[in-house]
Amino acid sequence: MKLAVLADIHGNLPALEAVTHELERLQPDCVALNGDLINGAPFSAAVIDFVRGRDWLVVRGNHEFYYLDWGTSRAVPGCEDAERWGQLHWLVDHLPREQGDYLAGLPDERALYFPGTQPLRMTHGVPGHNRVGFYHGQSDEKVLAKVQDLPEATLVSAHTHVQIDRIVCRTDDRADALETTPHGDFFTGKAMDVRHCWHIINPGSVGLPLNGDERAQFAVLEDVPEDQVPGGWQVTHYQIPYDRRPTLAAFADSGMLAAGGVISRLFYWEVVTALPEITSFYRWAYENDYNPDDSIRNAFAAYIAATGRDEYVHGLDPLVQRGL
Ligand SMILES: [Fe+2]
Repeated sequence: MKLAVLADIHGNLPALEAVTHELERLQPDCVALNGDLINGAPFSAAVIDFVRGRDWLVVRGNHEFYYLDWGTSRAVPGCEDAERWGQLHWLVDHLPREQGDYLAGLPDERALYFPGTQPLRMTHGVPGHNRVGFYHGQSDEKVLAKVQDLPEATLVSAHTHVQIDRIVCRTDDRADALETTPHGDFFTGKAMDVRHCWHIINPGSVGLPLNGDERAQFAVLEDVPEDQVPGGWQVTHYQIPYDRRPTLAAFADSGMLAAGGVISRLFYWEVVTALPEITSFYRWAYENDYNPDDSIRNAFAAYIAATGRDEYVHGLDPLVQRGL
């Protein structure tokens, strides 16, 4: 069984097309899409049409909820502020209602039981929370706290836009090991170590990678014996080069950059650098006593003046480098 896992397209249709082209070569048995189809790059509506025209298994991510919760009490606090949330306003204006109805019917998690294989759980963040994810550098204890109640030993996550292939294990000292016989369960009273392992996989981001590698990223999972990989799934991560210029040019051509202000510009920077530009800006602002939620424009002007980040990104921009 060969399962391709894609995630975090974020409206970047050229990146998705490049990955799909690679999938034609790899010929997976199934394709699963682990949330955040929309928002970020300007092709969100086209990405939804592209995805729903295919026989893919899809779950929602937190960016689908930014859109679905719009105008309700569940919406992000302050999202009516067009200066801070202009990008979301633009998205709401440019997604037809029937596309929202498609997103409305998607599940938030899926348990996949392909015949003759061990099960996988797929959810955008950590189980039960689509805005919390797994990062490199987290302790085993922190990761275990998120997965230890999962019945499936393999968890396909996303959200953090970095590729992860990690196994965490816990050994329990059981003074009263449970035995199961055809006649029922009973405690033997024997001491016994019970080892549980979970395999955490992040395919990386198709459209907005944040691991410093600007190529479109995804993963292919293949079933293997459990003594080879706990949970029975082996991962291969892929990075696919694609021409980012149509995506970058569309930021301005679509009108999203003008409507979305600072946040749209930071998404643009993320396509250029493949680094977490939004998070870096917010961190700098809070460390320097600016509150971006009061005036994101003022905070951003101070950020540029202090760090010269715009010049740095400009120097890496493929549209600039190639004289367009
Ligand atoms: Fe995402």
